[in-house]
Amino acid sequence: MPEPVSFQAPKGTFDVLPPASAGYERLTAAFAAVVERAGYRLVISPMFEDIGVFQRVGETTDVVRKEMYDFRDKGGRHLALRPEGTASVVRAWVEHRLPLPFKAWYAAPSFRYEAPQAGRYRQHHQLGVEALGTEDPDLDVEVIALLAEFYAALGLTRVVLRLNSLGDRVCRPEYRALLEAFLAGRAQQLCEEHQGRFRENPLRALDCKKPGCVAATADAPVQAEHLCAPCADHFARVKEGLAALGIAFALDTRLVRGLDYYTRTTFEFAAEALDSAQNAVGGGGRYDGLAEELGGPPTAGIGFGCGIERVLLACAAEGVDPAGRPAVDVFVVDTTGGGVAVVLTHELRSAGLSADRAWDQRSFKAQFKAADRSGARVALIVGPDELARGVVGVKPLRGDGAQAEVARPDVVAHVHTLVTGAGDVGEQGPRSGPPNGK
Ligand code: HAM
Repeated sequence: MPEPVSFQAPKGTFDVLPPASAGYERLTAAFAAVVERAGYRLVISPMFEDIGVFQRVGETTDVVRKEMYDFRDKGGRHLALRPEGTASVVRAWVEHRLPLPFKAWYAAPSFRYEAPQAGRYRQHHQLGVEALGTEDPDLDVEVIALLAEFYAALGLTRVVLRLNSLGDRVCRPEYRALLEAFLAGRAQQLCEEHQGRFRENPLRALDCKKPGCVAATADAPVQAEHLCAPCADHFARVKEGLAALGIAFALDTRLVRGLDYYTRTTFEFAAEALDSAQNAVGGGGRYDGLAEELGGPPTAGIGFGCGIERVLLACAAEGVDPAGRPAVDVFVVDTTGGGVAVVLTHELRSAGLSADRAWDQRSFKAQFKAADRSGARVALIVGPDELARGVVGVKPLRGDGAQAEVARPDVVAHVHTLVTGAGDVGEQGPRSGPPNGK
């Protein structure tokens, strides 16, 4: 027998346990509700791909260069764990060619070998959408508006949008040459890494947070002032659309983002309540050349990814409860031997309520303690006396409502009304909306 050893979750990863796991569930449900109303449908792609799929994300990015979890499988294939969702979804579309426009959403664990800190992990979880098949700037507006709507649905109010355009294959090369020449004149000022790399992809220096690069690029030429006419028109239309929807944004000409596939619109939402190093709660943009790079026909695309962990941190910092409701609605305390609890919890659950109970025929006191700990709003109490009289005790556990007695056949409908505020036992009531009743 090997010696027993104790293990921990790998560095930079964590277990998502109750009650925190309810936040993940509620965020995913709220996200699905928002994007499915706009015609986006769930896509589940493999958690690993041929490494080439992700190399298309950008050979000059940290994500590909330094942070990829890659490995060879037993058949010698060079694979990598997904660092982000876009490349996988586009690879899947290129492989299966579903009708365009193709509007997909996903909830995907993503893996990056980063230096772990609050809000930055080696496994994080992204909610995202990808929309393929049109360059129409109205789609950019739709995609950005969906992410704004998601934050609003959670009750977040201190989230700000930054916007930029990175041009296309016509105007980007000209701008890139201009920027490279500019940086060549200041190479000594750049940080060590970008001194050696700026010729490979000069835009990365704009994204660098090190003081040398920030100072050297302060008056660098910006893409937004060197857009070709079609890109300028496209960007103008995106800004008009956002204004028409009342979505405030700040132009940020340095917003180049950390992946190389972007063209035209790029955007990022920052949570003001979080520390600035890790306050990007979502970001995305257009990638009109990616499908072609992955072997498909020229196909425009746009999307975003939003980190569940960061959104939960933003909720905590703003005092918003993303779980929005307790773990269970009702807790059944049965001191008659447990037989009533078997039937009652089943009836409650069939009526759309969440219900739990205690086990092992424990004492009234122990069961009641469990009821309190469960977070339930109501305890149903059945002892030998209630059983003999055909009634159930209904005790509100939150607020100061008094205990009542209800005839056994009426108790499920009664509790349903108490919990949901709706009379119809067959319906899901207001609980089924997004968190915090928004
Ligand atoms: P990204 O900006 O690299 O974009 O990641 C999207 C979001 O995932 C970030 O805004 C952040 O909330 C979260 N995130 C990223 N890395 C970490 C990490 N190490 N720990 C915790 N959260 C993290 C993308 O991944 C693109 N695929 C987005 C996109 C979709 N663009 C077009 N379509």
